[in-house]
Amino acid sequence: MDRSVVFILFPLIFLLLDLSSFATADLSSDEQALLAFAMSVPHGRKLNWTSQSPICSSWVGVTCTPDKTRVRTLRLPAVGLFGLIPADTLGKLNALEVLSLRSNRLIVGLPSDVASIPALHSLYLQHNNLSGIIPSTLSSNLTFLDLSYNSFTGELPLTIRNLTRLNALFLENNSLSGPIPDFQLPKLRRLNLSYNNLSGPIPLSLQKFAVESFLGNPFLCGTPLAQCFEIPPSSPPSPSEHPTKPKRSFWKKLSTGVIIAIAAGGSALLLLLIIVILVCFYKRKRGEGSGELKGKDALGARREKPKEEYSSSIQEAEKNKLVFFEGCSYNFDLEDLLRASAEVLGKGNHGTTYKAVLEDGTTVVVKRLKEVIIGKKEFEQQMEMIGRIRPHPNVVPLRAYYYSKDEKLLIYDYVTSGNFSSLLHGSKGAGKTPLDWESRVKISLGAARGVAHIHAEGGGKFIHGDIKSNNVLLTQELDACVADYGLAPFMSSATTSSRIVVGYRAPEVIETRKYTQKSDVYSFGVLLLEMLTGKAPLQSPGRDDVVDLPRWVQSVVREEWTAEVFDVELMRHQHIEEEMVQMLQIAMACVAKSPDQRPKMEELIRMIEDIRHSDSENRPSSEKSKDEKVETPQAADTESTM
Ligand SMILES: *[C@@H]1O[C@H](CO)[C@@H](O)[C@H](O)[C@H]1NC(C)=O
Ligand SMILES: *[C@@H]1O[C@H](CO)[C@@H](O)[C@H](O)[C@H]1NC(C)=O
Ligand SMILES: *[C@@H]1O[C@H](CO)[C@@H](O)[C@H](O)[C@H]1NC(C)=O
Ligand SMILES: *[C@@H]1O[C@H](CO)[C@@H](O)[C@H](O)[C@H]1NC(C)=O
Ligand SMILES: *[C@@H]1O[C@H](CO)[C@@H](O)[C@H](O)[C@H]1NC(C)=O
Ligand SMILES: *[C@@H]1O[C@H](CO)[C@@H](O)[C@H](O)[C@H]1NC(C)=O
Ligand SMILES: *[C@@H]1O[C@H](CO)[C@@H](O)[C@H](O)[C@H]1NC(C)=O
Repeated sequence: MDRSVVFILFPLIFLLLDLSSFATADLSSDEQALLAFAMSVPHGRKLNWTSQSPICSSWVGVTCTPDKTRVRTLRLPAVGLFGLIPADTLGKLNALEVLSLRSNRLIVGLPSDVASIPALHSLYLQHNNLSGIIPSTLSSNLTFLDLSYNSFTGELPLTIRNLTRLNALFLENNSLSGPIPDFQLPKLRRLNLSYNNLSGPIPLSLQKFAVESFLGNPFLCGTPLAQCFEIPPSSPPSPSEHPTKPKRSFWKKLSTGVIIAIAAGGSALLLLLIIVILVCFYKRKRGEGSGELKGKDALGARREKPKEEYSSSIQEAEKNKLVFFEGCSYNFDLEDLLRASAEVLGKGNHGTTYKAVLEDGTTVVVKRLKEVIIGKKEFEQQMEMIGRIRPHPNVVPLRAYYYSKDEKLLIYDYVTSGNFSSLLHGSKGAGKTPLDWESRVKISLGAARGVAHIHAEGGGKFIHGDIKSNNVLLTQELDACVADYGLAPFMSSATTSSRIVVGYRAPEVIETRKYTQKSDVYSFGVLLLEMLTGKAPLQSPGRDDVVDLPRWVQSVVREEWTAEVFDVELMRHQHIEEEMVQMLQIAMACVAKSPDQRPKMEELIRMIEDIRHSDSENRPSSEKSKDEKVETPQAADTESTM
């Protein structure tokens, strides 16, 4: 009986909800609409939209109005949406101001209820395969409309004339036909109608735009294109091809330049652009530079402009996309990244690493790989493998990547407090506090756990391939986070044999160029030696006769000067010497010449934990614990040193 009541009630409640949503649209109706959308559109990247989680704070791609009563923006660029945009879903979000579904694989048409959402001011649908006509019911609040790189057909709707706020209109690379209406849009500053099949004269109000706005429409004529035959010669002949040029504002001139350049140079220019932007922002940040650069001024000027203006010139060239991994909470794209302010964090053998702060304050680390020798497919496969590594507190997650012929970017979380190397070697000298023993052990242990986790992934076969103190990042609490794993397969042998890495590389890797988990253990051993001795693994890089750290330590220890190897900064604390000797033994086991003799990472963790345990036993105030692990011999030994 109860059940049947529920069965009857349920549809009724939904019906009521549905009806009431017309009258009082609210957050829950927005939620229903979004869930319905997610249900009916398959997507590659998982959307973590569930009705259990709060929509305004935890749904990826969604932001709400300040009072959290309505959904305000929906941005799902490049999430692999596939299929058609269902009517009666997104169209119900009638407080929506920004909708971005660009760079997906959406097909068929743009539902008119979406285009006419009253509050909508920015609509980004470029780089899909939408077809059909452009709906004539366009929201009169639109300022930015981008439908480029789709398959829209039919004529330009006359209602575009009503979009008095429209600032940018991008319709290039569609199959639109017919005449261009005389829009007379006072605010229109950027227009691209290229590569369609539009015909007839270019209306007067649009003649101020450059040729590049009308390319690839063989039946268009009039300024700035060739004269129309129909036009009587009485109209003043235009002596120059670019009569409007002097009138154009500075940013526009530059952006046209950029666009031409992009068209000509393709992605090579994109690369250059990225470098220029990164360099400029870096300089701005540092407050240096003599201000002689025209480009810099331009960039400075641009930053004050609304962001759409600058962004889309790059976006037009964007063929490849940022690929995000599942579970990633970021919601930005290449443009946002290019607009970010950037700071060089370091240069490694895989490329340069930047800290990028996006306009919304999100901070990420961007790594620009150099000399990648593998093709796109292999690259993507390797990325998938790295992306599948489960989250772990001691591993820096890879969040996204970007691949194009000339540019390969990896995007990681930003870890706040630098790396082990700079902390270890940078905190020496007068007035600085050297890193104490406990912190060193803590960091080593964290790093070991991170590497062990990586080794446990990929069916227990994953390899880090580049363990060194630079790649052990640190949080404020000195928790270690291992970075830069899984990149070895990308690198040309020329790069990997560079002397920079030699200090950490196992002898068999130098010979065979084959990385294994055991070669990771070797590198980790070198890192431990570095931590113990305070010496960089290669003291004078570039010289062939240099003795590497393991060999140096081995020679010193053989001569029984064991104490000589330790960092003098550590020698101040007498009671830790036993622990240091123990750690030295562990490190030496790791750098054993034969890979079989090296311990596994898991074993290594246990050994370090044992040291740490006895370490805490050792502290003057601490009282003996009942833990069984204490039965290691040195626990008794160290007691006597107290
Ligand atoms: C259109 O935008 C203006 C300001 O951008 C806003 O005040 C107005 O409410 C919007 N119109 C609608 C119907 O939302
Ligand atoms: C786009 O859709 C059309 C059919 O509407 C199809 O013929 C074409 O192959 C599609 N293009 C791409 C790139 O998927
Ligand atoms: C657009 O403006 C014309 C007048 O120019 C008006 O007749 C028409 O109703 C408007 N259309 C919309 C959708 O607002
Ligand atoms: C845009 O159209 C032009 C001309 O057909 C073509 O050369 C160009 O490759 C197209 N761009 C894209 C991204 O499809
Ligand atoms: C382009 O438009 C012209 C007439 O304006 C028409 O004759 C031609 O067939 C169209 N081409 C395509 C590919 O649609
Ligand atoms: C418009 O798009 C075409 C093709 O994508 C491009 O070649 C052209 O430079 C663009 N024009 C402007 C003004 O952005
Ligand atoms: C969904 O992802 C966002 C960021 O992408 C995150 O902040 C949020 O906690 C996630 N929500 C759930 C329910 O997992």
